[in-house]
Amino acid sequence: MPTKQIKQDPLSVLDHAFRAAIARALDEEGDFDPVIRAAQNPKFGDYQCNAAMALGKSRGIKPRELAERILAQVELGEVVEAMEIAGPGFINITLGRRVLGEAVAEMDDDRLGIPRQGNGHVITVDLCGVNVAKQMHVGHLRATIIGDSIANLHERLGWTVHRENHLGDWGLPIAMTMTALENSGADLEQLTLDALNVAYRDAQLSGRSDVKGLAGAIAHGCGPHRIAELETQNEGAIENISRAKETLIALQSGDSALVANWNALIDCTMREVFDTLGLLNVGIGPEHNRGESFYKDKLAGVVEQFIESGTAVEDNGAIVVRFEDRERPLLIRKSDGGFLYATTDLAAIRHRVHDLKSERVVYVVDARQKDHFKDVFDGSRRIGWDRTPDGIESDLHHLPFGSVLGRDKKPLKTRSGENFTLRALLEEAIERGTREVVARAEDPNAPTHGIPPEELESIGRAVGISAVKYADLSSGVTRDYIFDLDRMIAFEGNTGPYIQYAHARISSILMKAEKQEIQWQDARILLDTSEEKQLGLAIMRYPQVVQETADQLEPHRLCTYLYDLANTYSTFYQGCPVLKNDDEGVRASRLRICSMTRRILADGLALLGIESPSRM
Ligand code: ARG
Repeated sequence: MPTKQIKQDPLSVLDHAFRAAIARALDEEGDFDPVIRAAQNPKFGDYQCNAAMALGKSRGIKPRELAERILAQVELGEVVEAMEIAGPGFINITLGRRVLGEAVAEMDDDRLGIPRQGNGHVITVDLCGVNVAKQMHVGHLRATIIGDSIANLHERLGWTVHRENHLGDWGLPIAMTMTALENSGADLEQLTLDALNVAYRDAQLSGRSDVKGLAGAIAHGCGPHRIAELETQNEGAIENISRAKETLIALQSGDSALVANWNALIDCTMREVFDTLGLLNVGIGPEHNRGESFYKDKLAGVVEQFIESGTAVEDNGAIVVRFEDRERPLLIRKSDGGFLYATTDLAAIRHRVHDLKSERVVYVVDARQKDHFKDVFDGSRRIGWDRTPDGIESDLHHLPFGSVLGRDKKPLKTRSGENFTLRALLEEAIERGTREVVARAEDPNAPTHGIPPEELESIGRAVGISAVKYADLSSGVTRDYIFDLDRMIAFEGNTGPYIQYAHARISSILMKAEKQEIQWQDARILLDTSEEKQLGLAIMRYPQVVQETADQLEPHRLCTYLYDLANTYSTFYQGCPVLKNDDEGVRASRLRICSMTRRILADGLALLGIESPSRM
């Protein structure tokens, strides 16, 4: 019975009915996508079936005529109020209000209608990706919050989710930093991440030889001083690197003093990282650390298996995988026997797909690593490591994100040209958010007027962080965007605070209703005015939006939806008095759709990792 089904989802009911109608109208066996879409304008009804154009053309039938035949076949009973043909052959569908109201009520459960589509499925999300001895900067903002929201979305759909923070905690750069720290006699117990960051940079500089510079200087007949200077620099660099290599070998063989120092370095870094992640309010903790060092004992085996299976070959002492469609080979062991970033990532894929059984592995990593992942994924496919033990082909997916730019459209830098630390950026946002919230609370009519300062501060923090996160997530993963706090923190427009504010306003109406002891929880939902109906339709779209956002790995879809919902609500609220309504049934129905809107806003924001204070 269609009426029963629509309670689940009007779209699938329409889809079903039109699919069958098209087959009958064409008198063909087959499965035809009815192309049902939400109407862009309520003038054209609630949904449209757009299948007649393409199908008509391919079969030499006038699309309008085919649309008429489809209409004659479709069986929807009370589910629809009206259907009509428009333009070249669109079918405009207006849903029945009673049935729609019942469908909305049916969604009012603890899952807000979201299906457990992912039950039994496993995904790994590679996120955050900080490096030991380095401060988090704006790039890590994106790797962290995009990854966190993708993890949240899949969790909500019932997937088993592994968040993996692939820390850069192994290899030559760390050994160089350790050597530099040893030389400086620094006390590792007292170390700050800032000091560590400086040591890291110095170590990198001391290891950078300038062989080209030297050749150039000689060719250009530079003075003997310059040449001598470059010669010493090169010697120094080579010496530093060879000392660091010794350190690394000793560390690899488990030298206990070095291992203790190495752990101190990690502790120092992670203390600061978790502090910053705490400001960001994300679900990433120490339990999600699985750094490069986790794979260190597996690397020799990886290379062996690549050689044995014939996937990799020797080339001048190095081991490489070659691809027909690109010149660069994938290097998995250097001629000096050292392993690479790519070797570790191959081991990680094996772990994620084979051991964790992930059907999806999403890497939220900077767009500059595009080639790296292409090669590593293709290498894994070549050897068959993209198959789970059950033989399912895992979807290995690099989600490359764009850069965060300053107002000058260049990568965001401080005035002195340094990278912003993520912490500094977040602290500024929190300060701005707090200022905004405190200023608003001065208005005697504000719901926040007179509340304790700690509470104001916690609201301010939520607003500042939501501004940053929402601006990032809503601009689309792959695009660059301009970091402009003024725009991001505004209470008007497509911003995090705007959506939080809509949520807070509904919360205050519901609190009033509760005080007046109005019962609305089980009210019949009436969608008689066009504003009510639009809000009902917007509510109905939520489960599908969550699913599409997760499938497509596009958090901005959810942002756009929440912004639309907040706007649709605002139109509803202007046109439809809620508490002031004398008709008890209408009042209760409106309170119930207010409450569902509020819950969806809070739920959607939570999926984006954003808090929703109940007053602002
Ligand atoms: N630490 C790496 C970097 O800073 C990012 C790690 C990304 N994840 C991975 N599996 N490679 O570039």
